Amino acid sequence: MHKKIRIGVLVSGRGSNLQAIIDNIENGALSADIAVVISDQPDAYALERARKHNIPGVPVSAKGYKGKRDEYDALLVKELKKHNVELVVLAGFMRIITPTLLKAFPNRVMNIHPALLPSFPGLHVQKAAIEHGVKFSGCTVHFVDEGMDTGPIIIQAVVPILDNDTEDSLSARILKQEHKIYSRAIQLYAEGKLKVEGRHVIVTGGRASTDDHLINP
Ligand code: GRF
Repeated sequence: MHKKIRIGVLVSGRGSNLQAIIDNIENGALSADIAVVISDQPDAYALERARKHNIPGVPVSAKGYKGKRDEYDALLVKELKKHNVELVVLAGFMRIITPTLLKAFPNRVMNIHPALLPSFPGLHVQKAAIEHGVKFSGCTVHFVDEGMDTGPIIIQAVVPILDNDTEDSLSARILKQEHKIYSRAIQLYAEGKLKVEGRHVIVTGGRASTDDHLINP
């Protein structure tokens, strides 16, 4: 039996990744406790999802913190520490985080991105992948560093791009994989199986990205 880690999930919107994590905890696939869900958007649906499962859902509004990202992140650190969070999970959190948060949780902040990094960092990446004409895209779970979508990669899933794909249809296909691999990455972390060596994340017992994440529309 592995010890349950306490995670803090940062969100900004609908929270489908949060929901997948909750579901995987409830069905036993993920051995973690969500200590707190924090949103920079007080009306984010993700907060409601948390509360429906008796998880504290805390709005930390970013209003008034324009140009003061460090100060805002200090608020996040305070809230996360208050709930004894060990691992910070960004799930659709639409802000760039600063060293204030990273220093408080070194190699303990994860993010999910809906493309195969380092291709297509940033926003609207499903549309960008279609427009570029790539044949495959996917999603990436990575540790967060000080760059934008640049941190060491933990796990990726590949999905094909079909000729008639729209931004919505591709996003939905990728999202299905996001919901699987994020919990898997968190579980590997909880089991103490992830070691960061420079840009590389070494997974004890083998690679995190297995064949079932390949070409699986
Ligand atoms: C996901 O596509 C995630 O990869 C990206 O933002 C989206 C969040 O969706 N970072 P949701 O709020 O988890 O439904």
